[in-house]
Amino acid sequence: MTAPIDAEPRIAPFPPHLRALGVPEGDAAFEAVLDVAELPPGSMARVSRDDLDVLLAHTSDGIAATNDRCPHMSAPLSIGELDGCVVACPLHEGRFDLRTGDPVRMPTTGGLDPAGVYHPTWTPGGREPKVDPPGKKAQARALTRIRRFRYYPVRVRAGRIEVALPSTP
Ligand code: FES
Repeated sequence: MTAPIDAEPRIAPFPPHLRALGVPEGDAAFEAVLDVAELPPGSMARVSRDDLDVLLAHTSDGIAATNDRCPHMSAPLSIGELDGCVVACPLHEGRFDLRTGDPVRMPTTGGLDPAGVYHPTWTPGGREPKVDPPGKKAQARALTRIRRFRYYPVRVRAGRIEVALPSTP
């Protein structure tokens, strides 16, 4: 049976332990941020409230909301690319799975994965190997740890995407 065309989009589940900190329970935490029609399947959008930038991604598992900051060095993922549930960062070619919050490809700069395992720098195929001169910058790159995504609960009401956001002081 095929779903009706105007069926509400699915909401992507996320690991419960990766719920964003500071998001209260209950209906009051949800805010309407975007029309459903503005986020077709396969697309991403940034919505901002005060200094919080939220990434909305319509993945193959449904709509997910997390910070619009790459878990590597904070680049805006909303201008990257979405392939299924994997978002590609526009800055250092890192790829991250929105189902698990984990990297599926480390950034070109290398560094530490969420478990603290070191990965060296790498060069995409077809390019000259990049030399990483030793020094503070190389040390900083090597010690930069990728964090797992933190997620904001999402729901759809009356054609609007609502996201549960932290309360503002
Ligand atoms: S900032 Fe995204 S991979 Fe480096």
